[in-house]
Amino acid sequence: MTEHVTTHQAEEDARNEQILIWLNGRPVPKAEAVVSVYDSGFMLGDGVWEGLRLYDGCWAFLDEHLDRLFEAAKAIDLDIGLDREGVKNALFETQKANGMTTDAHARLMVTRGPKVRPFQHPSLSQSGPTVAIIMEHSKPSIPRPIRLATVPHVRGLPMSQDPKLNSHSKLNCILACIAAEKAGADEGLMLDVNGFVNTTNACNFFIVRKGEVWTSTGDYCMNGITRQKVIDLCRDNGIPVFERNYSLVDTYGADEAFLTGTFGAQTPVGEIDGRMIGTGQMGPMTERLRGLYKDLVARECA
Ligand SMILES: Cc1ncc(COP(=O)(O)O)c(C=O)c1O
Repeated sequence: MTEHVTTHQAEEDARNEQILIWLNGRPVPKAEAVVSVYDSGFMLGDGVWEGLRLYDGCWAFLDEHLDRLFEAAKAIDLDIGLDREGVKNALFETQKANGMTTDAHARLMVTRGPKVRPFQHPSLSQSGPTVAIIMEHSKPSIPRPIRLATVPHVRGLPMSQDPKLNSHSKLNCILACIAAEKAGADEGLMLDVNGFVNTTNACNFFIVRKGEVWTSTGDYCMNGITRQKVIDLCRDNGIPVFERNYSLVDTYGADEAFLTGTFGAQTPVGEIDGRMIGTGQMGPMTERLRGLYKDLVARECA
């Protein structure tokens, strides 16, 4: 069995060494795309980001990504310094500068910018935000179903650091991932504060039981755009879908499990905590939903 698989694994592409990265208003060579050690993103994880994918000349679900970005920025009281059109133009200009037409992934990041002193207070960021877009040639290449391990790191309550925020500080998720790797798995399955199965450290999580698709209530997890698309696709295609609380017992006994995210769309899960899920391979519902999602992206981009 292939070792060390991640949910964001892509084919090697030498062109990614030559990419131009958007940094504060212009595309610059990768080696020059650097930020200050005083940057609030570097120093404190004080920023928000979006991951987007380019399919056949079209950034899939761009409006939803922009909605989420601006909502997150408002929540952390961060002025992006650009309006929606400005952010879109930055994305399009980065794409153009790199001559990319399809199979590309963008990480669009906004931090509170450089600080005048190396301390926490947000008022120390006085020269405006740092806006960066890393756009890479990217064909997901995940050679086998993902193995998950349940980890002790839980998805927290919204009044501490709302797990819905796509914040730069991802330490809780990173610790979950490290714990999963140390347990011999690829990614961490995270429970909510009540012990129900919630999400993984980098993707949303679904199970399939007797023809029904289950995912968490949506509390405590990232409000994933792919997650919502899968729920909508189920509803539109007569597939029973439930956002509900469920436990590890329900999960180990599932016929199928899969992850969702912009990068990998729908990624099958073969094993959780040493228990094989279904046949250990991609199940028919996951395959069907992958097909439906592919058609949806094609329609969106037509
Ligand atoms: C913790 C976490 N869950 C889920 C997702 C998937 O969200 P989306 O489908 O919008 O890419 C992400 C992606 O940013 C994430 O960081």
